[in-house]
Formats: sequence, structure tokens, C-alpha cells
Amino acid sequence: MKRGKGLTFVGDSRVQKYDKPKLNRDYSEFPGRTEEFYPDFLLKEWVTGAVFLIGFLCLTVAHPAPLERVADPTDTGYIPLPDWYFLFLYQILKYTYASGPFNIIGAIVMPGIAVGALLLAPWLDNSKERKWTRRPVTAAMMLISFGIIFYTTWESVAYHDWETQNQQGQIVFSNLDTEDPVFQDIIRSNCTSCHGGELTGGSGPNLIEPDLNAETVQAFVENGTGEMPAFKDQLTDEEIQQVSEFVANLELTSEEDATNSTNDSDVSEE
Ligand code: HEC
Repeated sequence: MKRGKGLTFVGDSRVQKYDKPKLNRDYSEFPGRTEEFYPDFLLKEWVTGAVFLIGFLCLTVAHPAPLERVADPTDTGYIPLPDWYFLFLYQILKYTYASGPFNIIGAIVMPGIAVGALLLAPWLDNSKERKWTRRPVTAAMMLISFGIIFYTTWESVAYHDWETQNQQGQIVFSNLDTEDPVFQDIIRSNCTSCHGGELTGGSGPNLIEPDLNAETVQAFVENGTGEMPAFKDQLTDEEIQQVSEFVANLELTSEEDATNSTNDSDVSEE
């Protein structure tokens, strides 16, 4: 029998099952189904890879990753959003019996069952059938899982508060001096939890953009309003005075000004 070039096949699914698997068969036994590794096969691999690479490059140019302001651990009002591939888990955690007191169920039990079922799949379904329609139970489970993942992903996108998210993540340049003792000693421990680490807004409104005068701020801080507590008993009159002047002085700046005042001090602080 005429032999090929001595190359053997490894794991080509087009080749029929062979009952003496230990023996490597020569590729000349499969006329018309073979190709040389170099250059034919490698060239195809390379072209496929290049197409995807260029595709991804175009995608990143057309949709650059959104950049938000510097992460701020003191800002408890900020609502973080996971990347798209975890949105379904994020959404599941919002359901009544998967959140709050039932957090364990949403965070550990449900994902645990899903991953466990996936791990045990070879034992749970050991049918020899290769056609998915002949393995109805497994196929149904798979389709239901996909359905849940697609639906919850869609739901989390559709019901997310994008407006607040954009406002919270916005990069705002201001004359806020985070090194100022008034900011460090009073504002950081009393106000940033609601108004954001750079006072650009969180669960409470942005304090930089509106043009507030010291009397107005003082009235808000002393008496509170709506969701905002009164600080009359927690802060001394002098502290309230300092805070009010500090907040009243805040204003938006252009990018260049801000780089000299705020951002530099932020960097040296870390
Ligand atoms: C518990 C959250 C919370 C804390 C803490 C808090 N605020 Fe507020 N603040 C709010 C909310 C919510 C509003 C909007 C209230 C409304 O309009 O009904 C607000 C409104 C304000 C306003 C009015 C803004 C405007 O444009 O009308 C000022 C000024 C203000 N806060 C300053 C402060 C200062 C200074 C501190 C720290 C001493 C502080 N807040 C602490 C939640 C908070």
C-alpha cells in the first residue's frame, strides 16, 4: 500500500471511529479529506485568527471602554455594575428570595446547584446518543438555563438606572481640595457617604454644580431636608460655618485647572 508523507492524524472529527485506536493511521487512507499541515492548514488557521483579531480591533475602536471617575470607597451611594457576562447573576440577586435575608440562596446555593449540575453532567446523563434531540432531559435543562441567562441579562439592562449611573460615574473637574482640613475632618466623615467622595453626587445631589451660597448650605446642614439628616446636634456652630463656606466655594473648573489642584493631591495621597 502506498504510504503518505509519514504525517499522522490527531483528533480530526471527520475521520470515522476506528476500532484499533492505538494504531496511528496514515493519512493516505483518507483521500480527499487530508491536507498538509504546512502551509495549507496553518494558513487557514492564520486567516481565521486574523479575521477575528481585526474584528475585535474595529470593535474596540468603535466602542471604547467607558471611563468613569476614580473609584471612591467612601462613596456608598455609587451603584457598581458588573460586566455584561455577570449581569444575569447580578439580576438574580435582586429577586426577593435571592436577596436580603436570602442572600445565601442567591449568592451561593443557586450558582452552586448550577455549577454542580454542570460538573456532574457526564454522570447524570450518560446516554451514548450524540444527537441533542435524543437527549431530551439534558437538552431541556440546557435550553432552560440559556433562557434564564438571556432573560435575566436582558432584564438587568432594561431596568438599570442608566441616568444615575452616568451621573455617578461622570468625571467632574472642580476646585475641591481634598487636602483641606475642613474636607478631611468634617466633610469626609459626614457628607461624602451621600454626596459622593468628591461631592459630585451619590444618593444625595451634586454639591459642586449648583451655585449655592453659604447661608443656603448652612440652612440645609442645620435643619436637614427630606432624606438628609440635620447636623445641628452633631456639628458645632463653627464646624457648620466652615463646612458651609467650603461647600459654597466649590465650582466647576476646566480640565487643566483641575489637574493642578485636585488631581495632583489625589495622587500624592494614595
Ligand atoms: C444621609 C445622606 C446625606 C448626608 C449624610 C448629607 N446629605 Fe446633604 N442631602 C442629601 C439629600 C438626599 C439631599 C436632597 C434633599 C432634597 O432635595 O430633598 C441633600 C441636599 C443637600 C444640599 C442642598 C443641595 C441642593 O442643590 O439643593 C446641601 C447644600 C447639602 N445636602 C449639604 C450637605 C452637607 C454639607 C453634608 C455634610 C455635613 C450633607 N449634606 C450630608 C443627603 C445627605
